[in-house]
Amino acid sequence: MPLAVQISQPGGPEEMRLVDLPVGDPGPGQVRIRHKAIGLNFIDVYQRTGLYTLPMPLTLGMEGAGLIEAVGEGVTHLKVGDRAAYAGHPPGSYSEVRVMPALPVCKLPESISFETGAAMMLKGLTAQYLLRKTLPSEGLVAGDHILWHAAAGGVGLIACQWAKSLGYQLIATAGSEEKCKLALANGATHAINYRTEDFAARVKDITGGKGVKVVYDSVGKDTWDKSIECLRPFGLMASFGNASGPVPPFSPAILVAKSLYVTRAGLFTHIATREGCQKMADDLFDVVGSGKVKIHIEQRFPLAEVQAAHRALEARKTTGSTILTV
Ligand SMILES: NC(=O)c1ccc[n+]([C@@H]2O[C@H](COP(=O)([O-])OP(=O)(O)OC[C@H]3O[C@@H](n4cnc5c(N)ncnc54)[C@H](OP(=O)(O)O)[C@@H]3O)[C@@H](O)[C@H]2O)c1
Repeated sequence: MPLAVQISQPGGPEEMRLVDLPVGDPGPGQVRIRHKAIGLNFIDVYQRTGLYTLPMPLTLGMEGAGLIEAVGEGVTHLKVGDRAAYAGHPPGSYSEVRVMPALPVCKLPESISFETGAAMMLKGLTAQYLLRKTLPSEGLVAGDHILWHAAAGGVGLIACQWAKSLGYQLIATAGSEEKCKLALANGATHAINYRTEDFAARVKDITGGKGVKVVYDSVGKDTWDKSIECLRPFGLMASFGNASGPVPPFSPAILVAKSLYVTRAGLFTHIATREGCQKMADDLFDVVGSGKVKIHIEQRFPLAEVQAAHRALEARKTTGSTILTV
């Protein structure tokens, strides 16, 4: 029987167990995909710990790439034998083979390997909707400063390169000098080690006291207050994650002094339709295919060593993308 990684209750990495899981035929609107590589994402940690509540037992994983083995009724964009990759609900990509909705599954261009596909769909589609669609009311133009936290991570390294290709000056934050160097090497124009420096003060210096039009913040609790400080009037606080913990409740009154905007953005709203998802994926395939964005797979773990992969991610020991191999 095929192997999968399941949890039967929320908890630490030790809750993840390798189990034999029967896999049937796809129903209407579904496909069966045999994974060649699986993507690791911080959302997997939120789902494992119970920060995001899901029914148990739960097979984790939101991203993968592989070969289409069977196609259910009504699926027209995929056929048996296609190379494919996806990011999407429901979880279940930590598995050798799975049945899942076909909607978020995209044909993978021949020029993109399975490993790269698995390393880039969730993170790259996130960078796509943030940089292309989650914009301040005044828009962004070449030369504008934007602030991106955790810029040496999976989503972060893609964003550094993509922002550069759009002409934005991305101010990166990261948790070590090495990570700062990596962000700079990938297109960030400035990098701040936010474990040793006051990033709000540095942003003020860099922008000549003006602040940035938008902050892309996936760190959450630890960076929220200072991120608000970094914004210029009418700026946008784009909160999209909680790596340090969820942002505590706040009063809208904190926005009034600068007439700020706030969004809590999520990928799955953006890829909820087949057309929307494919359009975003095509944009991602273009920037990766053209070499404007390189996908850095910095860590590989066999599926059976998924506990070590989670420990590394949570301990801030990873950079770029991490994949699980099958
Ligand atoms: N809403 C969405 O649509 C969406 C989609 C994808 C990802 N995300 C979010 O984007 C973020 C990046 O995802 P990813 O999978 O690419 O992960 P990642 O950036 O590779 O890893 C998370 C990074 O967050 C930083 N961090 C800061 N404080 C932390 C703490 N207390 N514990 C752990 N890490 C901390 C670390 O970098 P430093 O050491 O440099 O601080 C760490 O490497 C996550 O928060 C994720 O939830 C959101």
